[in-house]
Amino acid sequence: MKTTTVILAAGQGTRMLSSTPKVLHKLNGQPLIWYPLQVAARTSSERPVVVVGHEADAVRKFVGDKADFAVQEQQLGTGHAVQAAESLLAGKTDRIIVINADLPLLLPESIERLVSACEANNAPVSILTVRMDDSKGFGRVIRNDDGTVRAIVEEAQASEEQLKVKEFNVGAYCFSVDWLFPALRRVKLSPKGEYYLTDVIEIAVQDGLPVQAVPCTHPDEAMGINNRVHLAQSEAALRRRINESWMLAGVTMTDPDSTYIGPEVTIARDTIIEPNTCLRGKTVIGENCIIGPNSIIEDCQVGNRCKVVASMLEKAVLEDQVDIGPFGHLRKGAHLASGVHMGNFGEVKDSYLGPGTKMGHFSYIGNANIGSDVNIGAGTITCNFDGVNKHPTEIGDHVFIGSDTMLVAPIVIGEGARTGAGSVVIHNVTENSVVVGVPARLLRKLDEGE
Ligand code: UD1
Ligand code: CA
Repeated sequence: MKTTTVILAAGQGTRMLSSTPKVLHKLNGQPLIWYPLQVAARTSSERPVVVVGHEADAVRKFVGDKADFAVQEQQLGTGHAVQAAESLLAGKTDRIIVINADLPLLLPESIERLVSACEANNAPVSILTVRMDDSKGFGRVIRNDDGTVRAIVEEAQASEEQLKVKEFNVGAYCFSVDWLFPALRRVKLSPKGEYYLTDVIEIAVQDGLPVQAVPCTHPDEAMGINNRVHLAQSEAALRRRINESWMLAGVTMTDPDSTYIGPEVTIARDTIIEPNTCLRGKTVIGENCIIGPNSIIEDCQVGNRCKVVASMLEKAVLEDQVDIGPFGHLRKGAHLASGVHMGNFGEVKDSYLGPGTKMGHFSYIGNANIGSDVNIGAGTITCNFDGVNKHPTEIGDHVFIGSDTMLVAPIVIGEGARTGAGSVVIHNVTENSVVVGVPARLLRKLDEGE
């Protein structure tokens, strides 16, 4: 059985009052449409179809090659949007899962149950429903006295009696493809001037076909986003869901309400996340780390037993037992080997710091390759930029860089060498030598064992 997911993303999202299309507004760091694409990848056998219309190019650009596209030139409703995908689907798949693109909290498990309900009952359609107190403009699920589904009635068209119904249409459906497209041709224009997808339910019932209603796994799945209040509410619900799953997986969170973890982040057991910490992108955190408070880590790999306090880390690699902060900044290409200590107000970019190297205070290291057990004194700067090009700095093992040393790149500091406080080093320094001054000159050669 072939299943294809169709994601409805052509609507303008008028209620967002935005020049950005609704489905590209971000939730926990990802555009809304990323979420149904993830669900589609988990639940359908075929490549998904995204129906685009309003700001189609921007939506296509984000989705890229993850889906095929159908264009709905005029936004004449959700039924009309599905019809736009007919030529891509009719005769090419068996079942169609339709998901409104503004339902980021939907779980793949619910969609799997929706598909099973269709298959088990040989039904032309199954709908996902939710029971709750707050209506939020949802379509009402109207049932017959025997409990079978009779129709979905949109809020704008609902009678007083129907408005009291507390079972709602979530906005995710499974259809048999052979039945859906002929049925859509029978949908009439609503008083609002739209062709509602939800009207096909009544058509199935009129034809005596069984409509399956499947309750969603978790009520927060139904949180649709029509305006920015919904966006903030969904953000909080998603945060709760993600944080709880990490806590249940063995991660401690001092204050989950102020802990922000992206959907693609992973954290190993016995790590403690302190308040006001954002872990973003494809960040991986090892075991027994203490991260935060007040830290932002994006697209980084952090080993085991690391400590990061009040710091910002971007596209960096930390091996085991690295200790950063407070107020450290690691930028793209920073690689700190095991046991590195980087204290307050340090910045490292495109550089390797070897095992055990210490950089305690106020330093900038860029385009450098630093050996093991090097001491980088307070205020050390790699002067890597001449205004046009970046130049490399090479520092051997066991080097001692005195406080406030300026290393004017390109430069090589040989193994075991030392620089005096305040030196400006413009020439390479041979191993086991001590240099001082401005510009630094050779003072003496170190004796063995000194
Ligand atoms: C829809 C349902 C409603 C359900 C609710 C739950 C219909 C008629 N109503 O209402 O029963 O309770 O979702 O989330 O389906 N879209 C298009 N083309 C269009 C119109 C909309 O692609 O012409 C897309 C939108 O981009 C959006 C989705 O369809 O992603 C749903 O549209 P929206 O206007 O948000 O529908 P609701 O009013 O929320
Ligand atoms: Ca909606």
